[in-house]
Amino acid sequence: MIDVQSLSMRYGPATALDHVSFQANPGEVLGLLGPNGAGKTTAMRILTTYLFPSSGTAKVDGFDILENPIEVRKRIGYLPETVPLYGDMRVDEYLTFVGKARALEGAKLAERIEWVKNTCHLKSAWKHLLCELSKGYGQRVGIAQALIHDPKVLILDEPTSGLDPIQIIEIRSLVKSLAKEKTIIFSTHILQEVEALADRIVIINEGKLVAQGTKQELAEKVQNSGKAARDLSLEEIFIQLLMPSQRVAV
Ligand SMILES: Nc1ncnc2c1ncn2[C@@H]1O[C@H](COP(=O)(O)OP(=O)(O)OP(=O)(O)O)[C@@H](O)[C@H]1O
Ligand SMILES: [Mg+2]
Repeated sequence: MIDVQSLSMRYGPATALDHVSFQANPGEVLGLLGPNGAGKTTAMRILTTYLFPSSGTAKVDGFDILENPIEVRKRIGYLPETVPLYGDMRVDEYLTFVGKARALEGAKLAERIEWVKNTCHLKSAWKHLLCELSKGYGQRVGIAQALIHDPKVLILDEPTSGLDPIQIIEIRSLVKSLAKEKTIIFSTHILQEVEALADRIVIINEGKLVAQGTKQELAEKVQNSGKAARDLSLEEIFIQLLMPSQRVAV
């Protein structure tokens, strides 16, 4: 469903992505994991066609991001790192506006609005101004706008960032329920998040791909002092993949 082929991105002299390749299969939840500045947001902005790469390309549902960006955008719902919420619009107005921008109208628009209202648990905030929303409700509206056109692919940049523990559980269970029918890529630097949600993990650091695979496959790449791969925590795997010289007992 998503095929990232040797993507590189340079901002002036700085390299944010350096020949990164990874894949997400249909129906898969892929966790994009890496420290601050690793290149996660840059990769997502390129996949959603908000940025053009310096070199390399990617395909989404068979469409090339460089050759067919409009077809790619139709298939993607995107929760950016900072959700562009217009403070003086109400939740219902904003989602209607985004739905129309996604070419929905009439009964279909009404049906999708009702669906995101229920799925993203927005009833109690439905008539509130966006500037009045808590961070968690803002994030729910951000996910609702990403889902309004029922995309095949969801790209979520740190979906639980800044939320309290209850809100994190709610957003995680929402992502899990969506995973049954969509291909999802989400970024995070929270290891528990990846354990809770991802079928497969892509680790990037300083713009380079460090490893990709299931937790078990990543564990098997790690040269560990005596521990069986299945006994390694994701924390141990992560530290040893990023800092192989440090034999840290976590
Ligand atoms: N518009 C920009 N201009 C110049 N440099 C940028 C720009 N956007 C990102 N960078 C740089 O590119 C690198 C990757 O940034 P990016 O935002 O993709 O990382 P990230 O993995 O999403 O980090 P975080 O976990 O902090 O969100 C960083 O070194 C960052 O400073
Ligand atoms: Mg980021």
